[in-house]
Amino acid sequence: ALAAGSSSPSIGFKAIPIGTGDSVVVPEGYRVQAFIPWGTPISGSMPAFSLDASGEDQAHQIGSHHDGMHFFAIDGSSRDGLLVLNHEYVEPRFLHGAAAGLALDADGFPQHEDGSRDADQVRKELNAHGVSVVRVRQGDDGQWQVVEDRLNRRVTGLTPMQLAGPVAGTEHVVTKYSPDGSMTRGTLNNCAHGVTPWNTYLAAEENWAGYFANEDAEIDRRQSRYGIATRAEGRYQWHRAQGGADEFVRFDATSHGTSPSEDYRNEPHAFGYMVEIDPFDPQSTPVKRTHLGRFAHEGVIFAPAVEGQPVVAYSGDDARFEYIYKFVSARPYQAASADGSLLDEGTLYVARFNDDGSGEWLALAPGQNGLTPENGFADLADILVNTRSAADHVGATKMDRPEWGAVDPATSQVYFTLTNNTRRSEEQVDAANPRAENHFGHIVRWQEEGTHAAERFTWDIFVLAGDTESGRDLAGEPLGQEAIFASPDGLWIDPDRRVWIQTDISESVMNTGIHEVFGNNQMLVADPETGEIRRFLTGPIGQEITGVVTTPDQRTMFVNVQHPGATTSAEAFAAGESVSHWPDGGSAIPRSATLVITREDGGIIGA
Ligand code: FEO
Ligand code: CA
Ligand code: CA
Ligand code: CA
Repeated sequence: ALAAGSSSPSIGFKAIPIGTGDSVVVPEGYRVQAFIPWGTPISGSMPAFSLDASGEDQAHQIGSHHDGMHFFAIDGSSRDGLLVLNHEYVEPRFLHGAAAGLALDADGFPQHEDGSRDADQVRKELNAHGVSVVRVRQGDDGQWQVVEDRLNRRVTGLTPMQLAGPVAGTEHVVTKYSPDGSMTRGTLNNCAHGVTPWNTYLAAEENWAGYFANEDAEIDRRQSRYGIATRAEGRYQWHRAQGGADEFVRFDATSHGTSPSEDYRNEPHAFGYMVEIDPFDPQSTPVKRTHLGRFAHEGVIFAPAVEGQPVVAYSGDDARFEYIYKFVSARPYQAASADGSLLDEGTLYVARFNDDGSGEWLALAPGQNGLTPENGFADLADILVNTRSAADHVGATKMDRPEWGAVDPATSQVYFTLTNNTRRSEEQVDAANPRAENHFGHIVRWQEEGTHAAERFTWDIFVLAGDTESGRDLAGEPLGQEAIFASPDGLWIDPDRRVWIQTDISESVMNTGIHEVFGNNQMLVADPETGEIRRFLTGPIGQEITGVVTTPDQRTMFVNVQHPGATTSAEAFAAGESVSHWPDGGSAIPRSATLVITREDGGIIGA
């Protein structure tokens, strides 16, 4: 095990039991309020939430499926700031209240008899994706409210974006929309996030491959290695919107024209990145930072910036047997001038975890580790567009679905959740991924040898998630009832070093079979020194808990509840029913929302 670093944080609340009800439960002495559910108006003419809201209305309302999130304090305040949050995807069966009359396809999307889609419904789905920037303020009564403000903004699947870094301006990203490969439109499937040392927000593009159709007979590794198969059908069928608008047609990546500037064969190559958004400049164009690699980015976590040293950021690729990466900037951090261009020059590395507890970072750069033209990697842009293939080539360690990371402010140890991987066989087990058929996941951590820019590290396993029989804490002891969990996903270490762990047991197995003992998805707190874990929060039916941050004074915590009601059966969906009515209650459809958590005594959350 890694050396102990410091003293334990105080963890003062009484653990709660697992939850199975359609509500949020927090410890004794805590309060919780549901806030900014999907459809809450934030900008423009402030269109009220309605199931009949138009695609354009949705561009002025909070999106769906809340995920990664950060609170940007205004003037250092803990009662006034910008809440910035991702909207990962949509549930069409809840999104389109007035879709009656149209048949639903297998994924629940309304379609016309000829398979075409209603253009405004497609617009609404695209606008329900992306990022919300919303000013929020705490009133004297302690309640948080949305403030109508010029900084409020939606970034969606339709927002123009700039490409930056080595892939920008190359033939890989030439499209009819951007013949010089400098621009693209929209960000999709934004799971977790990152916050840069210069106080901007990064949204991750995770499962973007599923939005594209491609009917070409052959698809190269820029798409095939990312899960785009030769097929007419993407899940969302956006390219089949009636009217054939260019902004929808582009989701068909088939080669229709005679050159890449006549069609959208390259459109998928403009997805799979970290997207930088300046929340304090509502006119700014979001920027896709290609040097951080192209994969199913879960999120990104920056090491604390040190004046005069490189900027370092860690990122996981959430798919079975994929990798953990780190970017090290070429130029040093200088607080006075630091900006996003620091992310456009540097080195992307991928991790190898050796069985003896050591590890190394392998550079994904031209001429290094066999990444040469002879081996099929023409140049840096080619390596980055094909990040997964490059990582395969250098022999990185295939992990059990890397999700969020976090850095311990006292020890500089880096933690990463590995959510699960039921497809790992006995032959594929290694020390860092020690369980075959890994149903419950684990958390790995490492210490760099020197600064965060080091090329070697030592690692251990912080916890093996599971029930009281299969779970193991830092000391190798079975997890107690107050500590059992499965499928760790969201992860955050607060300034006092409490390790917040959020779970995402898939709706396909939630509350059934071996997962029944875990109840609904939840959030727990771990002590990084002793490894003790205590359950803090349980969520309503069918959701995952994801996204967590506090105000600077740590007296208000924001947590997201994503996809309540997702365990509703197809038959019940078809009948307009749901197993969850959270947060509105009654017979309302469920909505993703943000939780605002405070203490009755006004104290620090978790202490
Ligand atoms: Fe969107 Fe990997 O969770
Ligand atoms: Ca996630
Ligand atoms: Ca999920
Ligand atoms: Ca997940």
